[in-house]
Amino acid sequence: MCGIVGYIGSDNIKEILLDGLKELEYRGYDSAGIAILEEDEINSFKAVGKLKNLVDKTASFSTNAQGMGIGHTRWATHGKPTELNAHPHLGEFSYVVHNGIIENYQELKKELQSEGVNFLSQTDTEVIVHLFEKYYHTLQDPKKAFVETVKRLKGAYAILLITKVDKDRIFFAKNGSPMIVGNDENGDIYFGSSDAALIGKAKEVIYLDDGDYGWSSLGNIEIYNDGTKKELNKKPLIGDKVSAQKGGFRFFMEKEIYEQSEVLSDTIMGRVLDEEIKFEELDKSFFEGIERIQFCACGTSYNSALACAYLFERDAKIPTSVEIASEFRYKDPLLQKDTLFIVISQSGETADTLEALKMARDAGLKTLSICNVDNSSIVRIADRTLLTRAGIEKGVASTKAFATQVMVLWMLSLYLADIKGTMSREEIKGEIEVIRHIPKTVVVEDRLHEKIKRLSKRYLHGHGFFYIGRDIFYPLALEGALKLKEISYLHAEGYPAGEMKHGPIALADSELFTIALMPKSLHYDKVKSNVEELSARDATILAISPEEFELADDFIKTKHADHPMSEFFEMMVITQLLALEVSIRLGNDVDMPRNLAKSVTVE
Ligand code: F6R
Repeated sequence: MCGIVGYIGSDNIKEILLDGLKELEYRGYDSAGIAILEEDEINSFKAVGKLKNLVDKTASFSTNAQGMGIGHTRWATHGKPTELNAHPHLGEFSYVVHNGIIENYQELKKELQSEGVNFLSQTDTEVIVHLFEKYYHTLQDPKKAFVETVKRLKGAYAILLITKVDKDRIFFAKNGSPMIVGNDENGDIYFGSSDAALIGKAKEVIYLDDGDYGWSSLGNIEIYNDGTKKELNKKPLIGDKVSAQKGGFRFFMEKEIYEQSEVLSDTIMGRVLDEEIKFEELDKSFFEGIERIQFCACGTSYNSALACAYLFERDAKIPTSVEIASEFRYKDPLLQKDTLFIVISQSGETADTLEALKMARDAGLKTLSICNVDNSSIVRIADRTLLTRAGIEKGVASTKAFATQVMVLWMLSLYLADIKGTMSREEIKGEIEVIRHIPKTVVVEDRLHEKIKRLSKRYLHGHGFFYIGRDIFYPLALEGALKLKEISYLHAEGYPAGEMKHGPIALADSELFTIALMPKSLHYDKVKSNVEELSARDATILAISPEEFELADDFIKTKHADHPMSEFFEMMVITQLLALEVSIRLGNDVDMPRNLAKSVTVE
């Protein structure tokens, strides 16, 4: 996830920007850059890789006078992590940094190119600086030019812009991506995409709302929304860096559960068009000659593949199999050239997945990776990659990475269904509508979280948990159980609901906790009768469903009942919160559970 900083004042501008970027490193990035306006000059520096590279590049540059600067850490979305694609992006006399995705950038780019504008990068961001300069040329007023620019942008953004035609101000805008502006006692101004960048510098801050835009000069902040000037709602800034990184949440895992709405918006942005799914990274010819799909992954990534294999067969009508990478490697698999080999990995470094990918590559198969970390080993080896855009995930127990993997795979299944003509445009449009609503579906409501907090006290003992579900809810049951066991150290299993009677039901008694995933839109009656069988054996039932279930000992009512994927994402959040709250009550270290590592680079 990208990070933004900005500063106006007479302290060491370079150091303040680099310092702010350092505080945002935890969010993950693959390149960084700064631009500083001092006297009449703008100096800009960019570097790929770690911040240290940028620090080295700027070593002989110093700032002494009153001035301003903007800085950025970039997590590649549009275009590779190169220096040209790193921010700040420049026009003739202005520089911009941006978080988020400009959805209509292609349309704006075409318009600007037809007017003779030359683009240097592959990013969506670059349109902003050129639009600003275009409007400046006609209006001759930087404030008006900035307002006109912001009006043209669709999508999510947090923007800072500096320009030689207004040497006193930083221009800013925020919609859908976080942005904070603050000041110290001297009137120096600080910007950041998260509190962490401002701690120890700004004394009071304003958290910008969606639709806010404005400009700031030394000692002065002006914020507008929809043409109206706003009162400045300043709040004192609290000074603890780690808790700022956690954004007020108790654990990173909790924060990451809450972030899912935002990152899912990032995942779909620019990829979900009105009538079709589009991936910049793919073209239809890549799928020529492909008759089957083989997924391969570990842990949570395996669970996301397992869930989406149902969609690939159902929507794209393509035979799809799923393998655990550590099993796949040693089974002498039959690898056929008409198979597309898809690996899924949050880190891109998991040894078993990486080795399985190499085997597929060496056997001459086409390979695709679904990955969260650009430039990781897996990304470098796969023929193509779809990045999941979850941002850095700190909690060892994966949450937002899972959500974004499922989303990318679901979109890919529709992309393939479109190519193969197995779904009509109308059907795909219907799915797209549902996809667009998913970020809202995963917003954590206070009432729900409170309920799960209270309810969790009844699930701290017993001789085991069975998470059960059918169809795509079976892999979700596996994932729910994995979350619980990783951070609570309680025994939990995921099981297909229909399989219980073939053995595990023998375990049923009041100390066996069953977490029943009972969606309304998929096999409700079937799963209901499976849960009734367990209830008849006195198992304790926590039912998660939009439909009241009278045999449940505990019940969490869900809101969505119209589409399996809406139900899937809503129930995913509930299982994550349940694991979190049980673990917290047991006094465990949620973010760093015993015996586990975030990236498993050994066999
Ligand atoms: C579970 C978890 C692990 C990983 C697995 C694969 O919460 O995080 O099960 O999913 O180790 O890791 P990646 O996705 O990085 O390949």
